[in-house]
Amino acid sequence: MTTKVTKAIFPVAGMGTRFLPATKSVPKEIMTLVDKPLVQYAIDEARAAGIKEFIFVTSRGKGALEDYFDCAPVLERTLEEKGKTELLDILKATNMDSGEIAYTRQHEALGLGHAVWCARRLIGDEPFAVMLPDDVIAAERPCLAQMIEAYEETGGSMVAAMEVSPEATKSYGVLDVKSVNGRVSDVAGMVEKPAPGTAPSNLAVIGRYVLAPTVLENLSTIKPGAGGELQLTDAIAQEIIDGRKVHGFQFEGKRYDCGSKAGYLQATVAFALSNPELRDEFAHYLDGVINHKMAAE
Ligand code: G1P
Repeated sequence: MTTKVTKAIFPVAGMGTRFLPATKSVPKEIMTLVDKPLVQYAIDEARAAGIKEFIFVTSRGKGALEDYFDCAPVLERTLEEKGKTELLDILKATNMDSGEIAYTRQHEALGLGHAVWCARRLIGDEPFAVMLPDDVIAAERPCLAQMIEAYEETGGSMVAAMEVSPEATKSYGVLDVKSVNGRVSDVAGMVEKPAPGTAPSNLAVIGRYVLAPTVLENLSTIKPGAGGELQLTDAIAQEIIDGRKVHGFQFEGKRYDCGSKAGYLQATVAFALSNPELRDEFAHYLDGVINHKMAAE
C-alpha cells in the first residue's frame, strides 16, 4: 500500500527571462492561455488528482501570483449585484481555501532541485508531487491523476516521460530505461541535459513527478550538476543508486512547452480551438491566414 499523495510543490521562482519584457512585471505563471493563467491549469490538474495542499516556491517579484489566489470580494459583490452568475462561478472556481495554499521562498536561483528542497519542511516524511506549470498537458484524464493511479501500483518514485527527437534530448532530463511495461518503464538511470549524442534514450522527463520523501534528503547532499545548478534529476537518480525504484510514466495527452514562445503560442492555438465559444470563429480566421500565406507563396 502506498501513502496517499496529497501535497504538491509548484516551483515558480524562475525569472521567465525568455518572455521579457512581459515578465518584467508579470510573473510568467500568470500569463494566460486563452483566459486562464498557466498556473491555474496546473492547480486544476493537481486537484483532479486528489492534491489537497498546494505549496508554491516563489521568489522576489511574484506578488501578483499570490494576489491571484486571494479572494476578490469587491469583484464578487459587483458580479453578484449585476446578476452575472456565470462569471461569478468562473471566478469562485479559482478561490483557494484558507490554509490550502502555502508559500515558501527560494532566496537564490540555485536550480530546480534547490527550489524543491526549499519546501522540504512543508512536505515532511510523505510522498509528494512536483508540478512545473510551464509544462501544460492537455489530456482527457489529467496527467497527474494518470500518474498517481500508476504510482499506487508501483510505489517508489515516478516521473512523467515523453519521447522527443534525438536533437531535443539536450534540453531535458533523459531516462536510461531498463524495461518497459505498457506506459510504465523501469528506470536504470537519469541524466540532466545530456550533451548531444550522449543521451541514454529519447525518453525525456516532463514536469510532473511523484516522489518519495528520500528525494528531499538526496537534495541536501547532491552536488551541483548540469549548468552548475542543483538538479532535481540528480536527486531522483540517487534513489536508483541507493537501491530504490524509479519509474517513467508515458502519459496519454499532448504536452505544450509554455516556457518557450513557440510552445506557448501552440498551446494558445490549441486551447482556443478546443474552446466552444471561440472554436468556429478562430478556425475560420486561421484558415484565412493559412490560405492567404499559401496563395502568396
Ligand atoms: C526541467 C528539468 C528537466 C525536465 C524539464 C521538463 O528543465 O530540469 O529534467 O526535462 O524541466 O520541462 P528546465 O525546462 O527547467 O530547463
